[in-house]
Amino acid sequence: MDHFLYRDGQLHAEDVPVAQIAADVGTPFYCYSTATLTRHFQLFDEALSDLPHLVCFAMKSNSNQAVLRTLADLGAGMDVVSGGEYARARAAGVPGDRIVFSGVGKTADEIRMALTEGVRQFNVESEPEMRAISAVASAMGATAPITIRVNPDVDAKTHAKISTGKKEDKFGIPITRAREVYAEAAALPGLKVVGIDVHIGSQLTDLAPFELAYTKIADLTEQLRADGHEIIRLDLGGGLGIPYARSNEVPPLPSDYGALVARTVGHLGCEIEIEPGRLISGNAGILVSSVIYEKQGEERDFLILDAAMNDLIRPAMYEAYHDIVPVQEATPGATPACYDIVGPVCESGDTFAKRRDMPRLSAGEMVAFRSAGAYGAVMSSEYNSRPLIPEVLVHGDQFAVIRKRPSYAEMIARDTIPEWLDR
Ligand code: LLP
Repeated sequence: MDHFLYRDGQLHAEDVPVAQIAADVGTPFYCYSTATLTRHFQLFDEALSDLPHLVCFAMKSNSNQAVLRTLADLGAGMDVVSGGEYARARAAGVPGDRIVFSGVGKTADEIRMALTEGVRQFNVESEPEMRAISAVASAMGATAPITIRVNPDVDAKTHAKISTGKKEDKFGIPITRAREVYAEAAALPGLKVVGIDVHIGSQLTDLAPFELAYTKIADLTEQLRADGHEIIRLDLGGGLGIPYARSNEVPPLPSDYGALVARTVGHLGCEIEIEPGRLISGNAGILVSSVIYEKQGEERDFLILDAAMNDLIRPAMYEAYHDIVPVQEATPGATPACYDIVGPVCESGDTFAKRRDMPRLSAGEMVAFRSAGAYGAVMSSEYNSRPLIPEVLVHGDQFAVIRKRPSYAEMIARDTIPEWLDR
């Protein structure tokens, strides 16, 4: 459920008409709902309430400071994958002991930064990385808390580009080698093993792969404990999917997921961490765009929008489906149309939807892409020199711009001219 609903024929974000925001900031823009972010965080928090736990928001899905602050104020931790994300989490007021540092290629600088300011744990992805963390921590006279990400060789049955838990994927160490690697970790200076980490993929719409992976992790926990390791924490990753096509998708609920966690690893007495991104931020955001032209082609009609693949790359990159709805609700008698919905970027790949049934729209009318709060703004670029679009946060009947649209001058001013070209 989200808080983008029609009232009196007008799409609202909570209590604010989307058209009112558009009049203020111009299109295209991203718009997030505080109530939806809050609700989704709380659903997870409640789903795990029988176990000691921390919900660490995977901020790769949405890293705007205001979004992070909203979640941090609710008690969320953060899952970060770069020095930049770590700095953003700290800037949003998240204490180091609520920041989990994931990612396959942490550099010495990033490790040092996190050890200096505080980190809940590093999720180690490989032996060379484990040795690097040990070296940096030892040189600083510090102890780095670590889990090791194990790859359980489970098929997440999701899009190949966002599946991470098969043995051919680049993530983690094979579960078959876990005991050996934990033994090395225990012997290295500057490290303290605190647990195990696993993440099998994103946009999972079936709980069975989680069940398989977590059962393997439970067995591994017992084995590692028997080997003498103190396993007090299990990081179970993120990945629970959301309904992108509302008409026919019903992914599992956080409460079903919580019950699965309790059933598979609850008996181990570990503190549980989870790293949901999409399920918290995905349906908490829309992308609002105006129709520039309605172009009637020979074979098909096109709706040419002012948003493009640089603003929302998911359809081009993963063939992802997003519901696209008119901001002014279609009346029952509206003329139906079937469009290819595209952006103005000079690539055929700049196509959001093919042969999509919509009410007939004309230039100046607006549409909203649903489920755009995760992996939307964070994956945008300025390709075709289209400045990054603004982000807006709604809270009840208030709204605020939380990242403004840069002017052309600001965009250009980021480049610098070397001396030899200066005239
Ligand atoms: N933890 C780890 C270690 C991850 O790699 C990811 C996502 C998450 C947590 C959060 O997964 P979520 O709950 O959001 O599914 N750009 C793609 C998704 C990439 C996901 C990468 N890792 C997309 O737009 O679908």
